[in-house]
Amino acid sequence: MSNTIKDVVLSDDRPKSLLLQKHSDYLASYGLNKDDYEYCMTEYLRMSGIYWSLTAMELMGQSHRMPKEEIIEFIKSCQDTESGGVSSSVGHDPHMLYTLSAVQVLAMYDRLDCLDVEGLVRFVSSLQNEDGSFCGDKWGEVDTRFSFCAVMCLSLLQRLDAIDVSKTVDFVLSCMNFDGGFGSKPGSESHAGLIYCCVGTLSICKRLDALRADELAWWLCERQLPSGGLNGRPEKLPDLCYSWWVMSSLSMLNRIHWVDKNNLKQFIMACQDAETGGFSDRPGDITDPFHTLFGLAGLSLLGETAIKPVNPTYCLPQETIDRLKLEPQVLH
Ligand code: FPP
Ligand code: ZN
Repeated sequence: MSNTIKDVVLSDDRPKSLLLQKHSDYLASYGLNKDDYEYCMTEYLRMSGIYWSLTAMELMGQSHRMPKEEIIEFIKSCQDTESGGVSSSVGHDPHMLYTLSAVQVLAMYDRLDCLDVEGLVRFVSSLQNEDGSFCGDKWGEVDTRFSFCAVMCLSLLQRLDAIDVSKTVDFVLSCMNFDGGFGSKPGSESHAGLIYCCVGTLSICKRLDALRADELAWWLCERQLPSGGLNGRPEKLPDLCYSWWVMSSLSMLNRIHWVDKNNLKQFIMACQDAETGGFSDRPGDITDPFHTLFGLAGLSLLGETAIKPVNPTYCLPQETIDRLKLEPQVLH
């Protein structure tokens, strides 16, 4: 049996330097025209879109270009008074993913008091199951992503005491595979995005000791392809967002030097669009705020000094984590 390698070739005329001004302009104007087709089609992602854009702007020192008070009013209008959870947009159902995005945004703005904190804590803790796992909302889908959202959200609110942390950790560990990686639930194949979620959960719960760090880091660094980019699973194409899911995990494991940093940097730079600004999943594709955040955050982890330090566990500026006096675990 042979492994099929799917990859891209970086062209000679690709962007090679960091186009910060272009990215700031791109994010500042994104969504200004609320009639845009793209803006309308992504309503179900609005809350996370604000988190991706604001975090990217913060990392560039450009967050003053975002409409702060309008964002805060929008977040307030998305909290459901009954369940306490937050939805992606007004009139949608509350969900763990958007509750986390809202809390992350307010943490950056130092305005966590704008939401009903008891309601948020009630919503998150109500979604924990007997086995320690979490559902994303009342419809009951279980996924390790939601375990991570729950602990990140509650730790930002300084309310981890509201859930059973020990059972949370036990469930995440029950998703560990033979290769040291993690999937979405027990028995599901290893996937770099879910590895980030599981390692992040253990980092916040200070249980990184439970990992098989060398095997896991080996699996993660094998995600690097000849183009320098990283994929999320064997035999998949490289995708810029995996620069975040993989590199943040390696950073928590203190093994970031296991990838070829220079090659990865070239791949990330090549995912910029020199005309529109922003980053895309692969060179030449259409840019979006999601990949723009992970391009910048990935470069920050690689030591790019023009970008502020990002915290690998929270995907927030390190200065926000320091202000909240949070100390997610990193292996030494
Ligand atoms: C890939 O998804 C990524 C994941 C599964 C991880 C998602 C992580 C969260 C929602 C936690 C919150 C995140 C942050 C940054 C605070 P995909 O569906 O694109 O996977 P695919 O590439 O296999 O399609
Ligand atoms: Zn992607």
